[in-house]
Amino acid sequence: MASKLTPLFMRTAFRAARQASRPQTRAISMSAARRSDTLMVHRNTPDNNPDIPFKFTEKNEAIITEILKRYPPQYKKAAVMPILDLGQRQAGFTSISVMNEVARILDMPPMRVYEVASFYTMYNRTPVGKFHVQACTTTPCQLGGCGSDVIVKTIKEELDIKQGETTADGLFTFIEVECLGACVNAPMVQINDDYYEDLTPETTRKLLSALRESAAAVGGKSAADVKVPAPGPIESGRQTCENSKGITNLTSEPWGVETTRQDL
Ligand code: FES
Repeated sequence: MASKLTPLFMRTAFRAARQASRPQTRAISMSAARRSDTLMVHRNTPDNNPDIPFKFTEKNEAIITEILKRYPPQYKKAAVMPILDLGQRQAGFTSISVMNEVARILDMPPMRVYEVASFYTMYNRTPVGKFHVQACTTTPCQLGGCGSDVIVKTIKEELDIKQGETTADGLFTFIEVECLGACVNAPMVQINDDYYEDLTPETTRKLLSALRESAAAVGGKSAADVKVPAPGPIESGRQTCENSKGITNLTSEPWGVETTRQDL
């Protein structure tokens, strides 16, 4: 009612005065220090520059044809992620040449492909070792079992490298990552496509040595007897993520459905 009685020009003047009195500056906020532009910037290097040719193998071209069938032809750029992944698997990392080839295949501006590849950290835009060791250091893994701090220390000692580095023989690259979704089997690492869980310093050392030996075996020296632990929980007695103390609840026979709601 009051506003109806206030003349329009006065209401406009009040509104303008109210806005003018508000500060026109934004509060200074703090963000984490960025010590590297590796994730966003490409710089040509001898092993990663656009002059290095890259073509998909015949086998991978057949896979690309299959992938593209999942999308309407006018939306084929939606296939950028699986095809980048394929390129990474073939080349060993997502080089600039891989990205350019994916852009060509999908009729996309190369920049659009770079944007995708630089957003998702699973695309390795610099070369990595034969075994890409990613240790989860998020809270559940820090607290579970012996804790991820101990595992990270063990990996660094065993490989004699720091986070983000590759061993001199090119076998191992080690990085720390955030939750990989296997918290109930903490602490854990992902090596290439596999998860190794319920780790202890001993099992971590065994795992890395076995991988090192297996690579030597592939090199044609002593083939046989290299036994790499199977992915999953290692030497913890668990098959997957079941409770290690056995069943602790839901131990009695379930009620019949007719007794769950007495009122029905
Ligand atoms: S916190 Fe490590 S897998 Fe989730």
